[in-house]
Amino acid sequence: EEAALEEKLREETIDVTLPGRTFSLGSPHPLSRTIEDIEDFFLGLGYEIAEGYEVETDYYNFEALNLPKSHPARDMQDTFYISEETLLRTHTSPVQARTMESRKGRGPVKIICPGKVYRRDSDDATHSHQFTQIEGLVVDRNIRMSDLKGTLELFAKEIFGAEREIRLRPSYFPFTEPSVEVDISCFKCKGAGCNVCKGTGWIEILGAGMVHPNVLEMAGFDPDEYSGFAFG
Ligand code: DAH
Repeated sequence: EEAALEEKLREETIDVTLPGRTFSLGSPHPLSRTIEDIEDFFLGLGYEIAEGYEVETDYYNFEALNLPKSHPARDMQDTFYISEETLLRTHTSPVQARTMESRKGRGPVKIICPGKVYRRDSDDATHSHQFTQIEGLVVDRNIRMSDLKGTLELFAKEIFGAEREIRLRPSYFPFTEPSVEVDISCFKCKGAGCNVCKGTGWIEILGAGMVHPNVLEMAGFDPDEYSGFAFG
């Protein structure tokens, strides 16, 4: 019996000097890292992070953003409808309306909202049926276009590199007036033109503008007292 026990113990010896199994640790997903970098930048400027819903109502995704049912600009965003009044949000802009509404007409409002958005696009190298947007909204007294421009310029340099320039092009969104599209100078060719910037030297990164008075009013803010800028 003793011999058998000895034998068993000998067989089951563990060599504690063997190297252990290594656990491979992952690293943050590039998308998560990018969202965090952008959040950190805006938190540093005193913004709060707001959240909305990926399943949204027609009212917040469109109507509260100055896009009534018959508005032709609804075609700009091919929408996944769940029912007549429920849909997958096509942009993070409904969070603007929801946040303003919750503030009961009292500013300042200073938020960003990162989140998933959905569109009926055919997937290819530069399109996807689901992607991530970051919305920004500032509402207060005396907010001007120059505040928007300064904020975006700082943002571009912080996130895309200190040597980046920005360019504002006139555009149209129903929820802003005036509206702009914003480009950054290409980080690959430094503006000379290459395959990343389609030979133009510029890359479009966002839409923006001064919040339309109708949007302020529908969300309970007096457009005579308050103004704001937004981007997404
Ligand atoms: N919601 C727009 C889009 O998805 C982007 C956008 C444009 C957001 C202008 C804004 C804005 O807040 O002011 O195409």
